[in-house]
Amino acid sequence: MCGIIAAASNRNVGKLLVQGLHKMEYRGYDSAGIALHQNKQIAHLRTLGKVKLLEDKMIQEKPKSKLGIAHTRWATHGEPSEENAHPHQSKDRVYIVHNGIIENYIELKDYLKTEGYSFTSQTDSELIAHMLDFFLSKGNSIIDSMYLTKEKLDGAYAIAVVDKEDNSNIVLARNKSPLLIGIGTDEFLAASDPLAIGQLTNEFIFLEDGDVAQISAEGFTIYDSNKKEASREITKIDISDQAISKGKFKHFMEKEIYEQPQAILNTIDGRVGGDDVLDNIFGLGSSDIFKNVKRIQVVACGTSLHAGRVAANWFSSISELPTQIDYASEYRYRNPHVDEDSLLITISQSGETADTLAALRYAKEKNYLSTLTICNVPTSSLARESDYSIFTNAGPEIGVASTKAFTTQLAALMLLALSLAKSRNMNPKLRTRVITAMRSLPDTIEETLKIKDTILEIAPEIANKDNALFLGRGIFYPIAKEGALKLKEISYIHAEAYPAGELKHGPLALIDENMPVIALAPESEIAEKLVSNLEEVKARGGTLYVFSDPSISMDLKSGKLINMPKCDFLLTPIIYTIPLQILSYEVALLRGTDIDQPRNLAKSVTVE
Ligand code: G6P
Repeated sequence: MCGIIAAASNRNVGKLLVQGLHKMEYRGYDSAGIALHQNKQIAHLRTLGKVKLLEDKMIQEKPKSKLGIAHTRWATHGEPSEENAHPHQSKDRVYIVHNGIIENYIELKDYLKTEGYSFTSQTDSELIAHMLDFFLSKGNSIIDSMYLTKEKLDGAYAIAVVDKEDNSNIVLARNKSPLLIGIGTDEFLAASDPLAIGQLTNEFIFLEDGDVAQISAEGFTIYDSNKKEASREITKIDISDQAISKGKFKHFMEKEIYEQPQAILNTIDGRVGGDDVLDNIFGLGSSDIFKNVKRIQVVACGTSLHAGRVAANWFSSISELPTQIDYASEYRYRNPHVDEDSLLITISQSGETADTLAALRYAKEKNYLSTLTICNVPTSSLARESDYSIFTNAGPEIGVASTKAFTTQLAALMLLALSLAKSRNMNPKLRTRVITAMRSLPDTIEETLKIKDTILEIAPEIANKDNALFLGRGIFYPIAKEGALKLKEISYIHAEAYPAGELKHGPLALIDENMPVIALAPESEIAEKLVSNLEEVKARGGTLYVFSDPSISMDLKSGKLINMPKCDFLLTPIIYTIPLQILSYEVALLRGTDIDQPRNLAKSVTVE
C-alpha cells in the first residue's frame, strides 16, 4: 500500500504534491513526508500521522521547489514514526519514496552495512536509497544505478527518486506495485493512482513491471526491463472533482452509501437489453468461452470475497455450475487442483490487491480455460492482466470500508451468472425474472435507504456494546459476514457472523443482555427455521434486531423487528446489505471513530 507521488514542473510543486497525498490517503495514513529539490539542497519534511500534519508543517516552513517526491504510509516494516516515514535518504544525496515490500531486505541491509551504510529507520525501504547511492558512488548514472539496484531487489515496488546532483529529473521504477506517469501542462507527474493527479491531467501512462522511467518538466523517457527505450500507450481518464469530494455528506462512506442507486444503475446500464443480458459484456468472445465453462474458482479478499460467496450461490442456482471459493492469500498455498474447463474469477474494487493479483498470476500458469475479473478500476493491473473483465462503474470509492463497490460487485456478478446461463442455454424464464427485478433495483435501494430513521433509533443501543453477533442463513450468511466486517472495521466493536443454524453449536454460550444479535430474515424457504434459531436467542435473554420481510412474524421481548422493502429473492442480498452499512456508519459516528480512515487499515492493500 502507501501512496507515492512525484512532480517535475516549472512552478512550485509543494502544494500539488500534498494535495495529491490527500487524495491517496486511502492507501495509508500513518505518516507522510516530502523531499523537495532546491538546487543546492533538499528540503526534507516528515510527520507522524495524517497528511494534514505534513500540510501544516509545509505551511509553516513554505519550502519552494519545482521538483519533488512525496509519500503517505501504511506501516509494514517498522512502526508508524517520523524516522520510518518516507522519503528515506542516503548521504543527503539520494531521496526515495517506495510503495511495496522488499522481501530480501535483511540480507541487503546486512550487505550495505558492510559497505559502511548506517540505517536510521526500521523499514525495508531505506536500503533502496543506500543501494542507489552505492552504485552512484561507483560512477554509474542514476538510470544504470536503478537497474543495478533492481537486480538486487526481490519483491514489489513502485519507487520515485530525487538525486541532489540532478535538479531536473525524477527517476521511477515499477515492479508489481502500481505506478503511472501523468502528462500535465508544462509539467510531468507520477503517482500510484490517477486520482492523485487527476486534477492536473487526464492523460496517463501506466508503467509496466520491470520499467524504469525518468520525468522532467520538459518530458519523459521510459525504459523496459531490458533497458531499451519503450513507448507505452497514453490512457485518457477524466476524474471529476465531484467524484472525489464529500459534497453535502460528513464522510465519504456516507456519500458512497447514498450513491448506491446511481452506482447500481451504472453497473447495469448498457449491459441488459429486452428481457435478457446482452452478449459479450465481459469482452469480445466471452459469450463463446462461457459455453465451455464447467467449474468456477473465485479468489478475492475482504468485502470482495463476501461478494464472491453470494455469487457462488447464484452460479449454482442460475448457471448450474459448481464454484470453489478461496481467500486470495490462501489460494496459492493449498496446491489447488484445477479441473478442465474451469474459469478463474477475481473480484476486486481496486484491481491492485497484491494477494488477488498474485493469485491471478499463479492461476495463469495453471490450465484454466480463462480468467475474468470483476473490478471497479478499468486501468488496474487485474483488469489489464485478465482475459475478460467487467467494470462495476461505481465511481471512485474513497472510504476504507467498502459499500457501493460491494453492491455493484454483486450486480456485476449477477450479470455474470445470467451470462453463463445464457451461453449455456439455461433457465430462460429465470433470466427474464431476474433482469426485470434488476431494472427496479435502483428504486428499491432508494426506498431501502429510508430505513435510516429506524437505524437511528437502534444505533445508540449497539454503540455502547463491546460485541455483536450477525446471523443469516444460506445466501444471507455472507451478507451477515459483510455486516460484521463493516461494524468491526469502522466502530471497533468486535463482531462475528454465523449461519443461524450453527448458533447452538457454540456461540449461544455468548448470549446475554450485552450481546446484540443482528439477524437477516427475508422471506425464504428456510425462514421458519431461522425464526426458530432466533427464538433460541430470545429464550436466553439476547436482544434481537431483525431485518425482515413484513410477512415474517416474530414477537420480540427486546430489540426491534425492522421491515424491509420487497424484492426478488435472488437480489435480496443486495437490499439487505444497505441497512447493515447504515447501521455500522451510525454506530461509528456515535462512537466518534475515524470513519473514512479507520485505525490500522488501508483501502488498497498492495502488499501480500
Ligand atoms: C482492504 C479494504 C477492503 C477491501 C479489501 C479488498 O482490506 O479495506 O475494503 O474489501 O482490501 O480490496 P479489493 O480492492 O481487492 O476489493
